[in-house]
Amino acid sequence: MASTKRYDVKDLALTAEGKRRIEWADRQMPVLAAIRDRFEEEQPLSGYRISACLHVTTETANLMRTLKAGGADVVLCASNPLSTQDDVAAALVEEYDISCFAIKGEDHDTYYSHIEAAVDHKPHFTMDDGADVISVLHSARREQLGDVIAGTEETTTGVIRLKALESEGKLGFPIIAVNEAMTKHMFDNRYGTGQSTIDGIIRATNVLLAGKKFVVAGYGWVGRGVASRARGMGAQVIITEVDPLKALEASMDGFEVMSMARAAEEGDIFCTATGDKHVITGDHMSRMNDGAILSNTGHFNVEIDIPALRALAAETRMAREFVEEFTLADGRRLYLIADGRLVNLSAAEGHPALVMDMSFANQALALEYAVQHAGELEKKVYPVPPAIDHEIARLKLATMGVEIDTLTEEQAKYLASWDEGT
Ligand SMILES: NC(=O)c1ccc[n+]([C@@H]2O[C@H](COP(=O)([O-])OP(=O)(O)OC[C@H]3O[C@@H](n4cnc5c(N)ncnc54)[C@H](O)[C@@H]3O)[C@@H](O)[C@H]2O)c1
Repeated sequence: MASTKRYDVKDLALTAEGKRRIEWADRQMPVLAAIRDRFEEEQPLSGYRISACLHVTTETANLMRTLKAGGADVVLCASNPLSTQDDVAAALVEEYDISCFAIKGEDHDTYYSHIEAAVDHKPHFTMDDGADVISVLHSARREQLGDVIAGTEETTTGVIRLKALESEGKLGFPIIAVNEAMTKHMFDNRYGTGQSTIDGIIRATNVLLAGKKFVVAGYGWVGRGVASRARGMGAQVIITEVDPLKALEASMDGFEVMSMARAAEEGDIFCTATGDKHVITGDHMSRMNDGAILSNTGHFNVEIDIPALRALAAETRMAREFVEEFTLADGRRLYLIADGRLVNLSAAEGHPALVMDMSFANQALALEYAVQHAGELEKKVYPVPPAIDHEIARLKLATMGVEIDTLTEEQAKYLASWDEGT
């Protein structure tokens, strides 16, 4: 039976604090605020139900406010059991009248019951970060697939899952891959995750990064950001990769590149950023130094083989909030942050609002585009239209007070010609 409950949050008494923090983030999100003002006037989402499954943070709250201002009937659930900010969830319900199902630290069953609650909303549009709502719609709730007009996907891992569905011919409705926008992955994945991952590791452990050997697995958008920020804090950064081009790039960016088997023996702090599975295995962990710290900033907590770590441990205890200590048989201790879940959202607050402004401007405009082009879109994964991407970059620069040049007529003609040479 469809749930009639409108929310499940930790404590509505946290509303005032959540509202204060949502307003704080809003000050750093001028592009989204401008879209919200326009949506309020034009009502482009009027009459549509939206089920969003995103990290429940202050920035997401401002996106939900924007969708609601555009006339949508929105329900939000968490896209990770540990990333919810309980005060934000409370404020969404109490202050902004937006249904929310999310509690920080919820167990597996509660997490999925919250996704079910979002699906019970009978969405015309979905908005995912990791494709969990879409997965439920493509398995247990297939009967609802036909009612969904389109969806959006926020992150690399979600886009990979959806492209796999598309290539098997099983995608039930069109998707706009927000992650593919340049104004998303170049900034959010790199600068947002770069800074907030370091923030999460420091908040959880209070370690000094200077002089430490900091191993980053994966040199994609996220890995590049984490590596450059760790270097900025004085760490000696080591990169592991499987792609020779990325490994070469890391090497020429001045990082030491080696296999994880070797890095395992050298590193003090490890951070996985691959979107892949079992990048750090039991064998790797059995070679690590006493005191090694393990963290992950990829989407799912499968990058570190946590069951293998548990099997290696003679004893475990919580050393600090979010830091579990594993004592191996020979007395060495390894430390796992936030159960291997994305460390920036579990132990810190996720990306700063200034970058989420662009990611969520993409979400809002991609959704508006999907509404406007519903009839033309096929059951495929589409990139964000370049015109939207450029417009967001233009707006962002304007809000930062940055002016750039424009091509003169002569330059535009020159760049489009072939006959002018030496
Ligand atoms: N923590 C956050 O807030 C946040 C933000 C954005 C993206 N993400 C997630 O971070 C992950 C990475 O995203 P991205 O945009 O950098 O993806 P990406 O595709 O740009 O980079 C991933 C890199 O990992 C490498 N890789 C794959 N398997 C590997 C292995 N076994 N060992 C070493 N390297 C390996 C790939 O070659 C690639 O270079 C995804 O799961 C994404 O969803 C998290």
